[in-house]
Amino acid sequence: MSQLNLPSTPGKLKPDKFSPYSHRLRPHRITLFSTLLLALVLLFFYISYSPSSSSSPPRRFLWGGPGWESQVRSSAKVRSGGRFTVLVTGAAGFVGTHVSLALKRRGDGVIGLDNFNDYYDAKLKRDRRSQLDKSGIFVIEGDINDRELLEKLFDVVPFTHVMHLAAQAGVRYAMKNPSSYVHSNIAGFVNLLEVCKSANPQPAIVWASSSSVYGLNTKVPFSEKDRTDRPASLYAATKKAGEEIAHTYNHIYGLSITGLRFFTVYGPWGRPDMAYFFFTKHILSGKQIEIFEGPNHRSVARDFTYIDDIVKGCLGALDTAKKSTGSGGKKRGPAQLRVFNLGNTSPVPVTRLVSILEKLLKVKANKKLMPMPSNGDVMFTHANISSAQRELGYKPTTDLETGLKKFVHWYLKYYSGSKKRSSW
Ligand SMILES: *[C@@H]1O[C@H](CO)[C@@H](O)[C@H](O)[C@H]1NC(C)=O
Repeated sequence: MSQLNLPSTPGKLKPDKFSPYSHRLRPHRITLFSTLLLALVLLFFYISYSPSSSSSPPRRFLWGGPGWESQVRSSAKVRSGGRFTVLVTGAAGFVGTHVSLALKRRGDGVIGLDNFNDYYDAKLKRDRRSQLDKSGIFVIEGDINDRELLEKLFDVVPFTHVMHLAAQAGVRYAMKNPSSYVHSNIAGFVNLLEVCKSANPQPAIVWASSSSVYGLNTKVPFSEKDRTDRPASLYAATKKAGEEIAHTYNHIYGLSITGLRFFTVYGPWGRPDMAYFFFTKHILSGKQIEIFEGPNHRSVARDFTYIDDIVKGCLGALDTAKKSTGSGGKKRGPAQLRVFNLGNTSPVPVTRLVSILEKLLKVKANKKLMPMPSNGDVMFTHANISSAQRELGYKPTTDLETGLKKFVHWYLKYYSGSKKRSSW
């Protein structure tokens, strides 16, 4: 992801670069003065354009007005009584798009929110949005940190549920742009919960945590009761922080909150920063792929979970979520607080992932085995899903080969260059 627009590190334009020469050049007083002035001007521009919290400068979003409100209302309309009205954050994201479509298909009212940031190719997000448009789902371009926007949305629509999927994802990118994780996963989440706790009625919240909270846990399979206090990346730490923040808002304000720990979700319309996705791209283009391995050539393994299974888990969580108990920003009684693993229960070595892709693409990969850098990735993940099975009726049915087949089918169609739009 070398094309990412990273924020500059502070101090880049400090004027000390030319100071060693100043005594030799013996500049005229005016030259010195104008140089200083120029430096100040540059510093001013640097400060005013330095992105403070995300990979791109803060953007202003346009929203509001009668036309906008009627779009929101129409998108939120339920097909029949007893249906949910759901605000989906991160709606143009991978999981967000699939969940939004599934909700709409069964008759729920859906409003999407997404800031369309450039962490990965924004065109993919816009194409996902086109799919949502076609299904009558309005996706608002805005940020979960925008308190006014969220309050306005809750004014216009009495949401019964919030499906909170907006997040800064990726474990390695956290070393390049740590503040984007704090901005989305912590500040944004708190802002959303603040608005939810004040809303009347309060919605029930289901949100995406991550299997990465298990960090350096070695006991397998990972169970919800296991330790999650040793995150291996800032991403994991912000997701773990989210779980603690959820506890607080549940405790103080009576918000019903369910966290879902996703295990390596993959499938059509997936995220290009994930290994299965860029492996596919590189295998097709003949570029070498780096496969990480642990000490003594131990294989890295992931509990890959197919998107359709994850969607069922998300809907199961929404369907079993109890109502929040607060009103007027005050708790009126104990509320539901849950956390579930959503995995596939069968970890697959990354080398096996690559051989499945080679078979499906009919191209031999140019592989290079590399020791895994200690920059956030863990050796393996393996979910114990008995709790989700019991409480949500969650039962994954897609093995990696079947799921990758569907992904590759989508990938080839989407990137074939033809203008034909992929269908769902
Ligand atoms: C999975 O977790 C449940 C508790 O939710 C526990 O009873 C069970 O023993 C665990 N299974 C394994 C294989 O560790």
